[in-house]
Amino acid sequence: MNDRRLNTELRELGEQRFDTCHEELAQMMAELAVAPDHAVQKSLERLTVLSTAHFAEEDVDLRALGGPANQCHLDEHVAVLGSIAEVAALVRVGSGFDVARRLGRDLADWLPRHIDELDQRLAQSLFLRRTGGARIALARPTLVTVKG
Ligand SMILES: [Fe+2]
Ligand SMILES: [Fe+2]
Repeated sequence: MNDRRLNTELRELGEQRFDTCHEELAQMMAELAVAPDHAVQKSLERLTVLSTAHFAEEDVDLRALGGPANQCHLDEHVAVLGSIAEVAALVRVGSGFDVARRLGRDLADWLPRHIDELDQRLAQSLFLRRTGGARIALARPTLVTVKG
């Protein structure tokens, strides 16, 4: 099976509950992107359950923090769940398998950007609220090529 997760670099936020979920979501999105027709509905259902739970967990903190930037983040979660629900409705009546695989690819591309742009901001706000200071992140090289 083509595993797109291997090509997806997800930023670790240092919020273990989020980081673990992001990995699972990336895997499910990659699986949906290449799922055969008979597996698409199950794949979408699993993605729906985990996305809903993960977004709901972030949403609690986003609402508590408040503000327009956090509202944008909340809105993006709603939009993604809406897209998944629309495609799931098609698949339930026996069509939309290619649309579902396309959704999987699009979401697999979307997730790393969402983490970089919005989830990271949330994680920083939570860290600041807990500690009163900013997290110091050490950059970790992902690929180093040494020529001898
Ligand atoms: Fe997230
Ligand atoms: Fe998020």
